[in-house]
Amino acid sequence: MKALTVVPLKSGSAELSEVAEPPITDGPILVETLAVGICGTDLEILSGAYGWAPPGSERLVLGHESLGRVLEAPAGGPVAPGDLVVGIVRRPDPVPCANCAVLEWDFCRNGRYTERGIKERDGYLSERYRITPDFVVKVDPALGRLGVLLEPTSVVAKAWEDVDRIGGRAHWAPGTVLVTGAGPIGVLAAMIGVERGLEVHVLDRVASGVKPDLVRALGATYHHGTVEETGLAPDVVIECTGVPSVVLDAMTHVGPGGVVCLTGVSSGGHPLTVDEGALNRSMVLENVAVVGSVNANRRHYEQAAAALAAADREVLARVVTRRVPLAQWSSALERHDDDVKVVIDVAPDSPGA
Ligand code: BGC
Repeated sequence: MKALTVVPLKSGSAELSEVAEPPITDGPILVETLAVGICGTDLEILSGAYGWAPPGSERLVLGHESLGRVLEAPAGGPVAPGDLVVGIVRRPDPVPCANCAVLEWDFCRNGRYTERGIKERDGYLSERYRITPDFVVKVDPALGRLGVLLEPTSVVAKAWEDVDRIGGRAHWAPGTVLVTGAGPIGVLAAMIGVERGLEVHVLDRVASGVKPDLVRALGATYHHGTVEETGLAPDVVIECTGVPSVVLDAMTHVGPGGVVCLTGVSSGGHPLTVDEGALNRSMVLENVAVVGSVNANRRHYEQAAAALAAADREVLARVVTRRVPLAQWSSALERHDDDVKVVIDVAPDSPGA
């Protein structure tokens, strides 16, 4: 079967390879891959900056934002042939650490977790894959191909859970939310904020194109420019750019008692001049909390499924701005100005989705 593979840490090594059918040791559930979303992490892996091949293998099958259809599954299990499913990305570490032991692998403490398509486990960007029942999530058939948004939504569902838990250290009734970055993570974070009845603002660099209209269609207010120029002192900031100056601005401008949740992965090497004393002073005197958030456990996939089910389907469809057939995979990896979520259609003609 075909799979998009890469030699981790070697830029320009991506190719559409012919690989063996998925081994039965990967699990009793056989899934036909329908579509796979591409995100910043994939682009980092492709640039040679991130990623690990499975032990004993030179190449890694890419892809962690999946949507597939079950071909084979043991009777009486959580999924049956024909179901639309998404595969969970992370697997607990083998020790396991205290968090992985209770299935909170998104908080793995020893770094020995593995991730499909990213770290030491082949991903989902192959025509078929196998999986065990505990790492597969059923998708509402009404979502159809938009189910490919479940994994990125799980990441923001976790971010929102972190915000709630930290905010809940005192009376917590947030009103205003600022989301920095109108990429897929930003728009999905905004979507959840709007669903919660909050006043959501989204800030991005661009003044025109699909992003401003998409943000407005989601029910949020669009801004371009700097955090300061928004004039907001938000209760919550979900930072989705990873751009150091934006991260710093978020920490400086969040309102008293506010929570800043950092979800963007910075590349490093762009040091800023910071008045650490002034920043510390305002954070202490205003009880500001800053939290980093990565990955998602099964609970977050379930929260994400509920958030997607509650969303307006037509607006959600606008989040996927480009679909590329597997044969033309390389064009999916180019960044276009108007890209929000780019998806590789692995089985474009497959019925049922
Ligand atoms: C994925 C996460 C993963 C993280 C770090 C993100 O793109 O969505 O599941 O934990 O990359 O590898």
